[in-house]
Amino acid sequence: MTSWSIMTVFIDVADILYGRNDEGLVNIQGWLQNSRSSGGIQFLLIRDGTGVVQCTLKRGVVNDELFDNLEKLPLESTIELSGIVNVDKRAPSGREISVREVKGFNEAMPDFPIVKKEHGVEFLLDHRHLYVRDPKLQTIFRLRAKFMQAARKWFDENGYTETQSPMFITAACEGGSTLFDVDYFERKGVYLSQSWQLYAEAMISSLGKIYTIAPSFRAEPSRTRRHLSEFWHMEVEEPWADLDGIMKVGDEIVCYISHTLAKEVPKEVEMIGGKIQKLQKLEAPFPRISYDEAVETVQKLGIDMFWGDDFGYQQEGPLTEQFETPFWVVGYPRGIKPFYHMPNPSNPNVTLSADLLAPEGYGEIIGGGQRIHDYNHLLDRIYEDGLEPEDYSWYLDIRKWGTVPHSGFGLGIERVLMWMLNLEHIRDTIPFPRDMRRVFP
Ligand code: 4AD
Ligand code: MG
Repeated sequence: MTSWSIMTVFIDVADILYGRNDEGLVNIQGWLQNSRSSGGIQFLLIRDGTGVVQCTLKRGVVNDELFDNLEKLPLESTIELSGIVNVDKRAPSGREISVREVKGFNEAMPDFPIVKKEHGVEFLLDHRHLYVRDPKLQTIFRLRAKFMQAARKWFDENGYTETQSPMFITAACEGGSTLFDVDYFERKGVYLSQSWQLYAEAMISSLGKIYTIAPSFRAEPSRTRRHLSEFWHMEVEEPWADLDGIMKVGDEIVCYISHTLAKEVPKEVEMIGGKIQKLQKLEAPFPRISYDEAVETVQKLGIDMFWGDDFGYQQEGPLTEQFETPFWVVGYPRGIKPFYHMPNPSNPNVTLSADLLAPEGYGEIIGGGQRIHDYNHLLDRIYEDGLEPEDYSWYLDIRKWGTVPHSGFGLGIERVLMWMLNLEHIRDTIPFPRDMRRVFP
C-alpha cells in the first residue's frame, strides 16, 4: 500500500500540538520515529518536521492485514493517516491522534543505522545525513533558524540592507595563510572568500548601512572545538561609523538575538541544555577592556604572553573565564591585525579594532573595527604588509571617489550559537560541518 493521496489537505503536526486543530478529522503525514504495540493497540510516534505526535491505532479500525503490516513497519518509514485529535494529559504532548484511517505508507529499509544505543562521534559524522533527524540536532537547527530570523529582523528594523559578495575572490581579506585555492578555469590566484568585508566597503557607497549572512571559508589547519573550514558569517558595514559606533551595533544585535531566543523559543533552548537566564540577562553595553589590560590579565594568571602577541586558545580561554558576559578587547597592535585596520591616530602602533569575546572559555565571537579610508594611508599599509597593490586596485579605488570613515564587523554564527546554547563543539551548530578532515557527507 504505497499510493499517496494527492488531493488530501494535510496539516502540520505543530498545529495539532498547539491545539489549533482540535475539531473534526485531521490528516497528517510524516516519518515513523518510534512505535510500540500492546493489547491490540499500536502507538505510532509521527514526526513531520514541525513536531512529533503520538497516534494510536486500534485493531479493527483498519483491516487486519494492514494492521499487521503496520506493526512490522520499520522505523523512519513514511506514513499518511487521518484521525481525531484527543486532548489527553497522558500523551507526551498533551494531545494525540486517534487513528481512523491509514491512507498510505512507504516502507523504509529495516535497520535504520542510528539506534538508541550510544554511537561514536565518527560514526555519527559519517551518518550525518541521517543523524540530522536526531531530536537534539533538530532543535539546534530550529534555534539556528530563529537566530538568523532575529538577526534579519534587527537589521531590517534598524535600516540596514542585506547584500551579498562573491565567493570566488582574488584578494585576501584576512591574510594568505587560510585561503582556499580554487581551480577556476585554469586561472591562478582565485580563492574562496574569507569575508564579505572588502566588497562591503564598495557596497556602502551604493546602499549605505549593510549586512550579510553568508558562508566564509578558512583553510584552518587547526583541529579545535571552535574552528570550521566553512562557517556562516554575519557581517555589517556602515559608512560614517567609527569604532565606538560599530561596537554599539555589536552590543545591540547580540543582546537582541539572545533576548529573542529566550522569549520566543525558551523550551527549545532548555531542551538542549541552554540557560534562559543567561540569555535574558545580557545587557548592552558589554564591558570593554584594552588589549593592554587583556595582556596584563593573562600574564597575571601566569600564562605566557608578550605585548604584541595574538591571543591563542591558551590565553583566550583563561581570560574569558574571568568574565560573566561577553566583553570587548579594544585596540590590538597593528602587527596582528590585517592591513585594512585603521591605526589609532594618537598611537599608530595599535589599531581602532575590537573583538568581542564570549565568557566561560568560549572566546572570540566577533572581530571588527574601523577601516582606513584614506587612499595613501591604505597604500602604505598594503606595502608595509608585503601585499601587491595591483591585487587591491579596485579596493583602493573606493578611496578615490567619495571616501568616508567607516567601520564594520564579522560575527561567527556557529561560535555565537555554541556559546548561547552551551554546546561543547562547534560542529553541533551546523547541519553538515566542514573541517580539516571532513567534507563527506
Ligand atoms: O575575526 P575575523 O577573521 O574577521 C573578519 O573576517 C573580518 N573581515 C570581519 C569584518 O570585519 N567584516 O572573523 C570574524 C568572526 C570571528 O570573530 C569568529 O566568530 C568567526 O568569524 N570565525 C570563525 N568561526 C568558525 N570557524 C572559523 N574558522 C572562523 N574564523 C572566524
Ligand atoms: Mg578575528
